[in-house]
Amino acid sequence: MIIDRIRVAEAVAPRDQWPFTVPAVAALIGEGLAFDEQITFLVGENGSGKSTVVEALAESYGLDVRGGPNQRYGSELPKSKLGEVLQIDRGAGGSRMVKRAVGFFLRAETALDVFDGLSRFDRPEFNEASHVESFLAAFEGFGEKGVYVLDEPEAALSFTACLSLMATLHEARAAGSQVVCATHSPILTALPGAAIIEFGDHGVRRSAWADLEVVRHWQRFLGDPERYLRYL
Ligand SMILES: Nc1ncnc2c1ncn2[C@@H]1O[C@H](COP(=O)(O)OP(=O)(O)OP(=O)(O)O)[C@@H](O)[C@H]1O
Ligand SMILES: [Mg+2]
Repeated sequence: MIIDRIRVAEAVAPRDQWPFTVPAVAALIGEGLAFDEQITFLVGENGSGKSTVVEALAESYGLDVRGGPNQRYGSELPKSKLGEVLQIDRGAGGSRMVKRAVGFFLRAETALDVFDGLSRFDRPEFNEASHVESFLAAFEGFGEKGVYVLDEPEAALSFTACLSLMATLHEARAAGSQVVCATHSPILTALPGAAIIEFGDHGVRRSAWADLEVVRHWQRFLGDPERYLRYL
């Protein structure tokens, strides 16, 4: 593992102040959250703290949180509240990578702006027309062993593009990379061998794909949309 664990020391975590008022963030105090698999999905309801955690993880690891593949900026951004205090325990696979942080942080909402600034996307076919192509092209950068932090990458992707992203994540794993991905996608989370951590009022807990709320809802919805629609 490149990153074994993330955690926050009790002394620097005021539990009555945001972000420690978010149960899943409070769960990082002390022992923290261990990563057992090279690919980890963070799932949970809106507002459960996924973005807060992935952004802080990217910051602490030294990735540029403006997002995008291999971006290097001259100026440092101030860190988020959690990013200031989040500690990263590097594993055996990460200790040799301390000097240079390889990887990227992909934030779904800003990814297109980032891609616009990249010369290799300076092609007519990358005009706003296709989110999907720009996303998938960015994922080609997964070839190098590193830490890839993704926040809802499925936002712009079709069903088949999601499957294609799964294949890319699998390749990243084969190259020795680590991926931490916040998602609402019942497709991505089905990737075999990935860990799923569910954020919620309980804090954080390991979950199985078939037990995820989002998976159960989609299964029921697709089987009979009326069952949901009559309550709206
Ligand atoms: N800078 C901030 N200051 C105070 N509260 C914040 C700040 N940023 C986010 N929050 C709150 O922290 C909580 C967690 O937000 P976060 O964006 O991490 O959730 P999320 O799990 O990513 O949700 P979603 O699935 O909607 O993306 C929310 O209640 C949010 O309103
Ligand atoms: Mg979010």
